Amino acid sequence: MSETLGFGIVGCGLVSQFHGAAINASEGAELIAACDLNEERLNEFVAKFGGEKAASFEALLSDDRIDVVNVLTPNAYHAQFAIPAMDAGKHVIVEKPPEMTLEKTDAMIEASKRNGVKLAISLQVRFRKPIERVKEAVESGRFGRLLCGDTFMKWFRPTDYYLMDDWRSKREEGAGVTIQHAFHYIDLLYHLMGPVKRVEAKMTNVAHQQVELEDTLLAFLEYENGAFGVVEASTGLWPGTDIRVEINGENGTAIMQGERIATWEFRDEQPEDEAIRQIGSEVIRTAASGAADFAYFEHQHMIDDMIAAIRSDGQPRVTAESARGTLELALAMYRSADEGRPIDLPL
Ligand SMILES: NC(=O)c1ccc[n+]([C@@H]2O[C@H](COP(=O)([O-])OP(=O)(O)OC[C@H]3O[C@@H](n4cnc5c(N)ncnc54)[C@H](O)[C@@H]3O)[C@@H](O)[C@H]2O)c1
Repeated sequence: MSETLGFGIVGCGLVSQFHGAAINASEGAELIAACDLNEERLNEFVAKFGGEKAASFEALLSDDRIDVVNVLTPNAYHAQFAIPAMDAGKHVIVEKPPEMTLEKTDAMIEASKRNGVKLAISLQVRFRKPIERVKEAVESGRFGRLLCGDTFMKWFRPTDYYLMDDWRSKREEGAGVTIQHAFHYIDLLYHLMGPVKRVEAKMTNVAHQQVELEDTLLAFLEYENGAFGVVEASTGLWPGTDIRVEINGENGTAIMQGERIATWEFRDEQPEDEAIRQIGSEVIRTAASGAADFAYFEHQHMIDDMIAAIRSDGQPRVTAESARGTLELALAMYRSADEGRPIDLPL
């Protein structure tokens, strides 16, 4: 294997900026080529981040210098690129959500197994330092019995955001606060608290009357482990404030706000706790007020993690199987809101 791994990009829109910057910042990665149906976006991407313009997606797949393909197309158009890429022997990073249906997600998982290649989902917030510490504390049993796991995402996006690209206002293509924005934080609850057995959701539109979709989600969760939780997520609450994730157990409470630890209290105070409370005090931007208002280095963790998984022949940290659980929960929220009743999981 060569010293660096080659990366190819499909889809040069908003999130490609973060992948381009992350690949260029990663020592083990080299940006080889990109493709997009939109010539202008492709030109801009290559001018800014380097790499070649691939003549087509098929040309990207037949390029032997490319080891990993990053699928950065809209939410309902992931599997159609990820599966052929894996069938061509490429490892794949797919942007979140994995897809819009469990069937297409399962088909991607199957393609990765069939071809013996790695498949990671770009849920980069799982790499955030407070989340890593909370996850360790959950796994070591420091919280004791988990009682409550909540997230509050009070963000703002102007209506222009929804009108910028056709797919952003179409639910079947992956628009809406639940699947598009809150997905990261619903995923954190799933990642930290474990599976949900019952969910009840309500969805509404509080601030974007020009588009027909939910800009606000309220959900009540019953976890399999007996804990409860709420999700409150909106892109209609100006000016947008930092995300909160709150975990309460019988022996401790941890709250992440933005990328900082806001509360870290356990009955068994440990010497390292004071340092944990200082995590993230430099305050990075976490997209509360704008779609591109965040830093690329969380995506760099994803790129580095994929490289490490390939080199060690291990699994990437955010497997498609684990993201599938979050997708199932988000889909159950839509079903609950549509049918006006609680939904039991698995679906
Ligand atoms: N991880 C994150 O924090 C994060 C942030 C933003 C977006 N995303 C995800 O990234 C994905 C893309 O979102 P975006 O905001 O960049 O969307 P976008 O609309 O800005 O970009 C998508 C690009 O894909 C291109 N495309 C569509 N069909 C194509 C085809 N057949 N062949 C080649 N190119 C094609 C479009 O021309 C467009 O340039 C979505 O899944 C979204 O949920 C993730």
